[in-house]
Amino acid sequence: MSILQISGGQPLQGSIPVQGAKNSVLPLLAATLVCQGQTVLKNCPALHDVEVTLQILRHLGCRVERSGSTIAVDASQVLRSDIPDDLMHEMRSSVIFMGAILARTGQAELSYPGGCELGPRPIDLHLKALRTMGAEVLERDGRIHCRAGSLSGCEIRFPFPSVGATENAMLAALGCGEEIAIYGAAREPEIVDLQNLLRSMGAQVSGAGTDKIVITGGKPLHEAVYTVISDRIAAATWLAGAAATGGSVEVTGICPGHIRAVLDVYAASGCRIKTGETAVLLTAPERLRAAGLIRTAPSPAFPTDAQAPVTASFLRALGQTQFEETIFENRYRHVPELRKLGARIELDDRLAYVQGVEALHGAELCSTDLRGGAALVLAALSAEGESTVSGLHHIDRGYERIEAALASLGGAIKRLDIS
Ligand code: UD1
Repeated sequence: MSILQISGGQPLQGSIPVQGAKNSVLPLLAATLVCQGQTVLKNCPALHDVEVTLQILRHLGCRVERSGSTIAVDASQVLRSDIPDDLMHEMRSSVIFMGAILARTGQAELSYPGGCELGPRPIDLHLKALRTMGAEVLERDGRIHCRAGSLSGCEIRFPFPSVGATENAMLAALGCGEEIAIYGAAREPEIVDLQNLLRSMGAQVSGAGTDKIVITGGKPLHEAVYTVISDRIAAATWLAGAAATGGSVEVTGICPGHIRAVLDVYAASGCRIKTGETAVLLTAPERLRAAGLIRTAPSPAFPTDAQAPVTASFLRALGQTQFEETIFENRYRHVPELRKLGARIELDDRLAYVQGVEALHGAELCSTDLRGGAALVLAALSAEGESTVSGLHHIDRGYERIEAALASLGGAIKRLDIS
């Protein structure tokens, strides 16, 4: 077992390149299935979930090669339409393969991904979208069996802009030769990234980034070389680290527009922010001013994935900051851990009241989920004295060697193997 050993109290300083986006690379890798040749994706992060995705592609018959951050997927021969249970259970977002497999092979069989550490994660909107296109979807013994039959043009209307359901619908629509319009689509940058990859393969897709996406599929897609966008949540995490420790950090290779809602919060809390075309520099005061209410909501509003890391930066703020989590039911599991550092946080259902304290102290902490784990690391860096963080498998799902990234900014943080 590994743990992180952190000696807090030093401001983070310096410049850091941002890794490729985890939440983009997974749907983009699934999308390689719809090309009957090779797709090359650059800027892929080295993460466990990416490895699981490559295993799924290999299982389906693709030839996959990885060289550094470049992954080449040759999907000339897709031999299967199923994903085994063990791979489905490794990663909830493997449900994104449903639409891509269906578009490529006309059928798909996978297991129901079930809940996760953030609370129940139903896929009713994914299934509804496929059924609206005319796919036959049967749920039997915890497995989902889909058959495309003859998909036909239609209008899909989402009551809530689900990221995964939008991606699944876009991918499945590639198997239909008529126009499919998705209303109430998610508008996250990862949706635009998927559209851009599909267009570079010759697909007819428009509207991503707005709430209406229109796709006409049914034609063969050609080979493409494409660069994955950088990870807006990793960028937000490093900036939150600067804000938590009263430091100054520049993130590079990131589109500032992708983290606008986070930057607005820090600008209102006394940080100086300079943006370039692909870089953001945040310089924080020794203690932030409280931010009032921060409400998570679908893009372009404040992202739920940034809630926990940003919470960590307000633990020592002057005054009270409130968070309202509107996307997931169970996204405050890191709060009891943060209290061990001396943080004052009250929870009331979906609200968290964070009363800034003058100083935090070191503690033994355990990660509860990916972004909650990152929050513990940032909070420990802003606390006086020594802390440890365990449960690193959560953090490693989303950050490439978090200790190396933060150490490059001057953080006193090491990974220790204690097994
Ligand atoms: C994606 C991101 C995740 C992020 C989330 C919201 C990936 C791999 N993951 O997850 O990091 O936190 O977007 O920005 O990209 N819902 C339903 N029925 C459905 C689908 C979703 O009720 O069929 C609900 C979910 O339970 C949740 C909300 O909609 O409460 C948002 O989910 P969704 O946008 O689908 O998130 P994911 O795509 O799972």
